[in-house]
Amino acid sequence: MPIVSAFCKKGGVGKTTFIGFMAHCYSSAGKKVLIISVDDQNSIFKVFGVEDKIFNANDNYLEFLLANHKDLGDILIEARENLYLIKTLNSDKLSLKLTLERSQEKILKKILEEYNSYFDYILIDFPPSSSRLSEVLLDLSDVILLVIGLDSLGLGGFFNTIQYFIDNDIDIEGIKYIVPNGYSRNRRAPRISLEKLEKQAKEFTPKAIVLPALQERSVIKNLQSEGISPFDDIKMASSYDQTAKEALLEDLKEIFSHITL
Ligand SMILES: Nc1ncnc2c1ncn2[C@@H]1O[C@H](COP(=O)(O)OP(=O)(O)OP(=O)(O)O)[C@@H](O)[C@H]1O
Ligand SMILES: [Mg+2]
Repeated sequence: MPIVSAFCKKGGVGKTTFIGFMAHCYSSAGKKVLIISVDDQNSIFKVFGVEDKIFNANDNYLEFLLANHKDLGDILIEARENLYLIKTLNSDKLSLKLTLERSQEKILKKILEEYNSYFDYILIDFPPSSSRLSEVLLDLSDVILLVIGLDSLGLGGFFNTIQYFIDNDIDIEGIKYIVPNGYSRNRRAPRISLEKLEKQAKEFTPKAIVLPALQERSVIKNLQSEGISPFDDIKMASSYDQTAKEALLEDLKEIFSHITL
């Protein structure tokens, strides 16, 4: 089963949110899903309200697996039924002795191949910053989702990412889908940004499919502050939020129906 990555060389564009929702969509349909956080903020834990698990133990990070100090079972954290998370240090300072060496790159590849028999999908949440671990994992990804924020700053993430791929010899054709995020019918800027993005994609990533844009929805922040995913069967306290949650769920199902893995 494929390794799917959410990436953009720009912060705060919705990578973690999108990959988290996607993971929960698959796991709630009965698939076994693993999300590896390559971001040392491990913010994917917040999407599922399990941030207490980030600091609950100091020896269950991805790096301990790579250094052969731990087994998969020791570091998996269950976020929902069929949905597991792995956290990372991925910081040169913290992982001093555990930084990715050449031999560990090979281990990582072997591990991911092995995991493929346990999980239906392996999804990876990346930070916008560069690291050797990110580059190796981008290389190993079957499908890269490039998440782009629909404002002038977010749009810059498109070229930053292309440049980063070229500089680090990562295959641009790995980008199979582009995810425009933060669309709003009532505002001019996101509409224009979406048009520009479609043009840029046609020219620089012609094989990538531009997905229907995810709307800007304030309920996403409310859900995340409560650790609830739109795929959770939980009613929101406010009926306004509940209606928005249901609308978001429909949006997401429509977007995910365009993704073939
Ligand atoms: N469509 C949306 N509408 C409204 N808010 C959103 C939307 N998508 C994401 N957000 C909010 O924007 C913020 C940033 O999202 P997220 O953490 O997913 O971005 P990121 O690209 O992973 O950031 P980082 O680069 O820091 O990892 C979060 O507070 C999230 O709730
Ligand atoms: Mg993130």
